[in-house]
Amino acid sequence: VIAFFQPKVLAGQQVLVTAGPTFEAIDPVRGITNLSSGKMGFAIARAAREAGADVTLIAGPVALPTPRGVQRVDVKSAQNMHLACVEYARAATIFVATAAVADWRPAQASDQKIKKDGSGNAPVLGFVENVDILSEIAHSPRATSGALFCVGFAAESHDLLAHATAKRARKGVPLLVGNIGPATFGQDDNALLLVDAQGAQELPRNSKLALARQLVAEIAKRQRATH
Ligand code: CTP
Ligand code: CA
Repeated sequence: VIAFFQPKVLAGQQVLVTAGPTFEAIDPVRGITNLSSGKMGFAIARAAREAGADVTLIAGPVALPTPRGVQRVDVKSAQNMHLACVEYARAATIFVATAAVADWRPAQASDQKIKKDGSGNAPVLGFVENVDILSEIAHSPRATSGALFCVGFAAESHDLLAHATAKRARKGVPLLVGNIGPATFGQDDNALLLVDAQGAQELPRNSKLALARQLVAEIAKRQRATH
């Protein structure tokens, strides 16, 4: 019902959203992952759809229903998420990366369950860095030419403004959104700090859906300004 009254600020746009954690296998029964409920990304996908966009949501392992009218692609690892993003970014006009992508994966996932060997010694795992999906896509020709507007997220435990400003430059995105902590993980509300070339602006504490709708309006405004 509320969706009916949303202004269609993203009509004609193709929005790609990543959400949730990734899961990096150690063996067939275990792995490492990040803390992320996916709620913020799912709310953004929903808000973008309400705003008239065609939305593809690339989701890591989460327990959330698919927003109405959104095309959902489920992935597990960062490598799966990377491949899906490269595919769907080709036609996208807006990319919003909210996923908590694992920075590293085990260098060698075992085909078989690793068994305790009785010695009392723990296995030693080597790790390799995962591709930075957002940075790669934000530095691609379609993004640098203005055809694809990229938005990053950052969850920081301290010095949010300084870290978000540095991260915005490093990722090469026009807009970097900081989560104003500390207890946003899995919660239904949040507060956001929007960092762009002009400076920083706060979206005060609200439900994740209300913030997602405000953020969608801010993205639409900034994307229009780059054309
Ligand atoms: N991101 C991504 N691919 C990765 C890591 C991060 O697409 N391999 C995206 C996230 O979805 C988020 C943004 O980059 O939009 C920032 O993620 P974050 O983990 O805060 O940044 P990192 O560059 O990984 O730096 P660090 O974790 O060391 O703070
Ligand atoms: Ca990271």
